Amino acid sequence: MRILVVGGGGREHALCWALRRENPDADLYCAPGNPGTATLATNLPIAADDLDRLADAADMYGIDLTIIGPEVPLARGLADRLRAEGRAVFGPSAAAARIEASKAFAKDVMRAAGVPTAASGTFTTAGPALAFIDRQAEPLVVKASGLAAGKGAVVCGTRGEASSVARAMLAGGELGEAGREIVIEAFLEGEELSVLAVTDGRSVELLAPAQDHKRLGEGDTGPNTGGMGAYAPVSIATPALLERIRREVLHPTLAELERRGARFTGVLYAGLMIAPDGAPSVVEFNCRLGDPETQAVLPLVAGGLTDALERVATGQAPSAIAAEPGRFAVTTVVAARGYPDRPERDAAITLPGPLPGMTVFHAGTRLDDQGVLRVAGGRVLSVTGVGSSFEEARARSSAGAGEVAFEGRIYRADIGWREAARRR
Ligand code: AMP
Ligand code: GLY
Repeated sequence: MRILVVGGGGREHALCWALRRENPDADLYCAPGNPGTATLATNLPIAADDLDRLADAADMYGIDLTIIGPEVPLARGLADRLRAEGRAVFGPSAAAARIEASKAFAKDVMRAAGVPTAASGTFTTAGPALAFIDRQAEPLVVKASGLAAGKGAVVCGTRGEASSVARAMLAGGELGEAGREIVIEAFLEGEELSVLAVTDGRSVELLAPAQDHKRLGEGDTGPNTGGMGAYAPVSIATPALLERIRREVLHPTLAELERRGARFTGVLYAGLMIAPDGAPSVVEFNCRLGDPETQAVLPLVAGGLTDALERVATGQAPSAIAAEPGRFAVTTVVAARGYPDRPERDAAITLPGPLPGMTVFHAGTRLDDQGVLRVAGGRVLSVTGVGSSFEEARARSSAGAGEVAFEGRIYRADIGWREAARRR
């Protein structure tokens, strides 16, 4: 089998790692990949959003299965393009990817489908947005509707702050096209949960429930980022809660997308807030695997991942993805000083030596001409610890992250703090 993974971050390294584990003899390609994927796959120097060259490469290498990691190529129609050429593709059409690419669209789908989510308004001009803000309770959340790489949502403590954020997006052009339309919504109290559903648009196969850590600083302080760490499974995600999420969130959303002629195939990622009374509300949908959730979730898969992805890619319902019983994973992101705004690049990286139950996934790294590994992006590595208890997994992830060495290295030593507190 010839498999192409599109993307070059920690998520794609984890995907290559999981696919290689299940398919030791497959021809695995990754575009563009990174120095980590290069140890498992053949990297193709093609940007993840270069649709023409990706289509040519799929042709040239006779790719049987393409798995698209990031949202941008999905939103631009890479899956449609490859499918039109008769290829098996795991990932939604551009029409279905709007569930992530347009928060205004996602809100409209949820409203039509009766899916629980924060009350909101959608605006393209400042006047009505500011009038709406004046009528809302504090705090509130202002979001760019379009894709903004994790920087599009601003939690505002006051109406005044919300007004200036809304004005900056709508009138000031901050966030560019992504902020030309905004969603203003009520602040939801509770605990976040990421539920990743492999789906053909009708039938749903869940991966281990995970929790991301969006804030830069320990104790969940500082600005939002793409995600500083994750763990799985999450003990608040009981079988009863997951069943409720299927019934109240996943199935109605998929049915409404299909009703609109945009049947969703791939991973529907529900970013949820679980209220203190246990009720789930949708904070956002993503049209793909989460990063860094993937780096925690895939190491817990005991088998069946490739089959499930291949089945969905060929229009069939996903088969079961077996979970390793009694296993836990914690992923710590090691980032560069200055992330998320202006990460410092080029520092030489020393990787940790092998530790039991610890795997390092590359993201923003590159090899220079001398073969020295260097920082090439904001989130540099993710270090996953797996163990037979949450505490063991957490200790392994922290120990690995602590042994990564480069000038300006930052990471959160408190990934999984909510789970740790529950277990105390
Ligand atoms: P989003 O881009 O919509 O996923 O938002 C990014 C992050 O902002 C979320 O993961 C939450 O931590 C926070 N956030 C977004 N919307 C809300 C909300 N309505 N209530 C509370 N926090 C939110
Ligand atoms: N971890 C959140 C995301 O992938 O967008």
